[in-house]
Amino acid sequence: MNFSYHHIFQPGSDPAAAPLLLLHGTGGNERDLLPLARTLSPGAAVLSPRGDVSEHGALRFFARLAEGRFDPAEVTRRTHTLADFIAAASTHYGLDPARLTAVGFSNGANIAATILQLRPTVLGGAVILRSMVVLDQPATSASLSNKRVLLLNGAADPIVPLDHPPRLAALLRAGGAEVTQQMVTASHGLIADDLTAAKSWLSP
Ligand code: MLT
Repeated sequence: MNFSYHHIFQPGSDPAAAPLLLLHGTGGNERDLLPLARTLSPGAAVLSPRGDVSEHGALRFFARLAEGRFDPAEVTRRTHTLADFIAAASTHYGLDPARLTAVGFSNGANIAATILQLRPTVLGGAVILRSMVVLDQPATSASLSNKRVLLLNGAADPIVPLDHPPRLAALLRAGGAEVTQQMVTASHGLIADDLTAAKSWLSP
């Protein structure tokens, strides 16, 4: 099968573990979050695409006008392209979309959020690490019912304004998602508290 994204797929060893969709940050690649996934859920199947937009060589999932400034048409188009890939890959690899849980960092967290806003059927939930409001549009009513979302942000993050995490939580709750929004004492980079919170959220 010809997939639109270069990616890694690792089958799971624990059928009880929700499959994970890994979405890396700017300048990363499909290998970046594999160690994080193994820490969070050792036996989970993992699908990890590589961002296909280059910003001076740094890979991302959508282009931006400047740091923190986005073109909604570009974000929407890239979100649908990635969602189409996720749907096709889930069918191909036998992943249940209702259980597929995105783990996204930074730019990858941002597109995880826009997928929930625009294409909620391809994901069952998400761990969204250091995201901001990219599309200021509420999820369609009831489109996120029965989906859980964990938003983790740093209290001293120079990239994400402090009002964005609660605003994003509200946009997702409008679709019926069960959103846990938590701040950690961190900057944009991840710290041990993120892993602890994400691990216990994944296996409550
Ligand atoms: C973005 O462009 O998605 C955000 O600014 C996060 C980043 O990639 O730095």
